[in-house]
Amino acid sequence: MSDVSNAIESVLHEDRKFPPSPEFAAHAHISSEKQYQDMWQRAKDDPAGFWGELALSELEWFKPFDKALEGTMPENKWFTGGRINVSYNCLDRHLKTWRKNKAAIIWEGEPGDTRTLTYQQLHHEVCKFARVLDKLGIKAGDRVTLYMPMIPELAIAMLACARVGATHSIIFGGFSADAITDRNHDAQSKLIVTADGGWRRGKEITLKDKVDASLEGGKSPSVEKVVVVRRTGSDVDMVEGRDLWWHDLMDNADADREATPLDSEHPLFILYTSGSTGKPKGVLHTTAGYLLGVTMTSRWVFDLKDEDTYWCTADIGWVTGHSYIVYGPLSNGATTMMYEGAPNWPDYGRFWDMIERHKVNIFYTAPTAIRAFVKWGDEWPQQHDLSSLRLLGTVGEPINPEAWMWYHRTIGGERCPVVDTWWQTETGGILISSLAGVTDEKPGYAAWPLPGVQPVLLTADGKEIAENEVEGLLAIKFPWPSIIRTTYGDHGRCRQTYFSNYKGYYFTGDGARRDAEGRYRIIGRVDDVINVSGHRFGTAEIENAINESEWVVESAVVGFPHDIKGQGIYAYVIAEKHVDDPDKARADILATVTKVIGPIAKPDKIQFVSGLPKTRSGKIMRRILRKVAENELNSLGDTSTLLDPAVVDEIKAGRV
Ligand code: WT7
Repeated sequence: MSDVSNAIESVLHEDRKFPPSPEFAAHAHISSEKQYQDMWQRAKDDPAGFWGELALSELEWFKPFDKALEGTMPENKWFTGGRINVSYNCLDRHLKTWRKNKAAIIWEGEPGDTRTLTYQQLHHEVCKFARVLDKLGIKAGDRVTLYMPMIPELAIAMLACARVGATHSIIFGGFSADAITDRNHDAQSKLIVTADGGWRRGKEITLKDKVDASLEGGKSPSVEKVVVVRRTGSDVDMVEGRDLWWHDLMDNADADREATPLDSEHPLFILYTSGSTGKPKGVLHTTAGYLLGVTMTSRWVFDLKDEDTYWCTADIGWVTGHSYIVYGPLSNGATTMMYEGAPNWPDYGRFWDMIERHKVNIFYTAPTAIRAFVKWGDEWPQQHDLSSLRLLGTVGEPINPEAWMWYHRTIGGERCPVVDTWWQTETGGILISSLAGVTDEKPGYAAWPLPGVQPVLLTADGKEIAENEVEGLLAIKFPWPSIIRTTYGDHGRCRQTYFSNYKGYYFTGDGARRDAEGRYRIIGRVDDVINVSGHRFGTAEIENAINESEWVVESAVVGFPHDIKGQGIYAYVIAEKHVDDPDKARADILATVTKVIGPIAKPDKIQFVSGLPKTRSGKIMRRILRKVAENELNSLGDTSTLLDPAVVDEIKAGRV
């Protein structure tokens, strides 16, 4: 952990408050402070009773569980002895009700093509693909990689994996062939499902070629087959005996595949995410606890109702899409929207146009998108009727109060509550969030812990801070059903990363502030993780990638404040030799990062330096590098312990 106090130094004085409207509260699932507090207290006093009752009333079981909770973090087990299936709970149980012919997924492609799948139709497709998985020899417990655009087939493939008990590992389409190889190797995937490509800003993002490159030269021996969806229609190389077309397989598949009863703790998915050290970790979530977590939080936080059309703009390649496009909404029998492309195609009004046309009621997006909308101008949303909206949500990074106010006014018409939802890949679902029918909203504050969540603020040496109006390290004191179970293939790493610095707590890696009334504001990461447009990268991971360029001897990466992205990536690079042509060296570094991780991890700024500020023991003083990147040149702090203090002047002078 580095420079904790430094990262938590910002103090926000925010006094504006927006109470819930009585009309909203009257109909909300959680509709009063008293109701919320009773639920929270009950969950704290009797967690097993609280979650156990919900698990029985809100999910359908093949065999009920014996015990709601056993063990302590991170070896806790939820709903032991039970047998259940996520796909059954997201599909089959709704077919027994009027929801059978309700829209489950409303999908829109970037070129404007649309598809609506009712629960019945989605079930049909999922059963067929589950049959395909059977035929390909995929068994419960096998891993399947999904590297796909935002098309209905992605949701179908996820639910089909869940149906047969295969553990999916979704890789975001912005990752490179090398990144796919690493993840496939770590997960030992047997099958990859991909597509020729997908549409983004009017251009095709090809995917199959990256899968081919990831498998080249026998690099991923565990992978036996590749299934390819035809989306863009562009040419792809189909390797005989390995590659199969989705439509050929589906044409011949029966649609009578029952959901396999699985153990409550059966692995549902792996999702790779970055930490402060080296390579990304495979965060593992299991079946019943995860499902209950996302089912309840979707309902509590988004106030999901049967008549709603709900749209989360995330990509399913990230956890937000897993939990709040697919599993949470579908388990609730909701109508969830899915969009393939960019918010600025064909123009800056695309999202508002979609909200107007599809009559979206609940809209969930990220601060980085909101800041881009602000920049693009009010004229775009103003051209559209947004009166269908009734609740707005935000996720992924701290929202600056200006962006919050704009969202509230310009998109929400000062009528829609805004829920700021804090959570992480590891938490599976939302842990801290304002509640639309309960909370006085305060811009920038995620506010209250949901029922079953016990947050604490810790000092750097691990003591709980009792007072309010303080800042500290955010940790969680008691397990919740959708908590990370392990990091795939390396449980020690899971213990080490999240449960060892502060014994008895789950440590989040975030710093937070608590106001006088106990609301939380998340300040940001206190470890070496950068949040770029809501995407998480470890500085070490980016450094390792940069160092693969032939121009580079050593590098150090830090985040810096960025108007739109929240944080940008600033790289200090010691070059192999004198750089005569910095543009060429920069281009090579960018190409190398694109190759090793993907275009999403490219540094925004690269500064060539002759040395890095290191202590006598050889540790890079990142605090100084961060200050220079932030252009805070006069508050570098003590540099006397550096091996070569002169290097700091050079770095300051050469700031880019
Ligand atoms: C990190 C987790 C959770 C889905 C998207 C990101 C930051 C997330 C908020 C929020 C302030 C937030 C934290 C967290 N973060 N939501 N509402 N306010 N910060 O998932 O990639 O696992 O990243 O995102 O720093 O630790 P992730």
